[in-house]
Amino acid sequence: LVSIRQTSTKYRGRKAETYDAMRQKQVRWKIENETVERMLREIRPHSVLDCPIGTGRFLRLYADLSVREVIGVDSSDEMLRLARRKVPRSMKQHAKVRLEVGDARKHDCVDQRVHCVVCVRFLDLIEEEAMHAVMQEMMRVADKLIVLTIRFGPKYVPKSNTATHDSKKFLSLVRHSKWIVVERVPVLNAGWEIVRLGR
Ligand SMILES: C[S@@+](CC[C@H](N)C(=O)[O-])C[C@H]1O[C@@H](n2cnc3c(N)ncnc32)[C@H](O)[C@@H]1O
Repeated sequence: LVSIRQTSTKYRGRKAETYDAMRQKQVRWKIENETVERMLREIRPHSVLDCPIGTGRFLRLYADLSVREVIGVDSSDEMLRLARRKVPRSMKQHAKVRLEVGDARKHDCVDQRVHCVVCVRFLDLIEEEAMHAVMQEMMRVADKLIVLTIRFGPKYVPKSNTATHDSKKFLSLVRHSKWIVVERVPVLNAGWEIVRLGR
């Protein structure tokens, strides 16, 4: 069954090399890109923690929005190597960029709160307990905004490489941490959502 332990080690070799090509044609990929872009444009964050950053999918967007500080964290050094190639030149010149190996459950490399945290295509790949830990950590290090994707169902159901999370439990976790759900955008009809949290 889906687990953060397995998800932390599987994005290597061919899975890393073919990551972008395998996904760029997906409708879900396109909707995520458009929605994350719209949400970030509305806020214009000055600093972003993107975890997991993967192959650096949103680096171009961060450059276009003139984000001044970008911290990208991923457990896979191979994914990070691909991300490093995507750092736009303008960003190298005008922004502080750090791409580092790390764990979404403990952001040791974040010493001050960041304006915004982005977490796309991750919470549906880890078990419930890990999802809660990652959420707590994001809500701790983010100052104003969190943009995330998750897969919801009426209850937590772990499958071989995806999980649906209990939407009620998720919402109560958010509420207890004094964050609010600003927007929920369903993606396709399979439970995936792009969620914007604020405080
Ligand atoms: C499906 S990819 C998503 C990457 C990117 N956010 C995107 O939308 O393309 C999942 C990523 O999570 C990373 N990962 C897995 N476990 C992690 C952990 N505990 N901490 C940080 N990153 C992790 C993997 O290495 C992989 O790059």
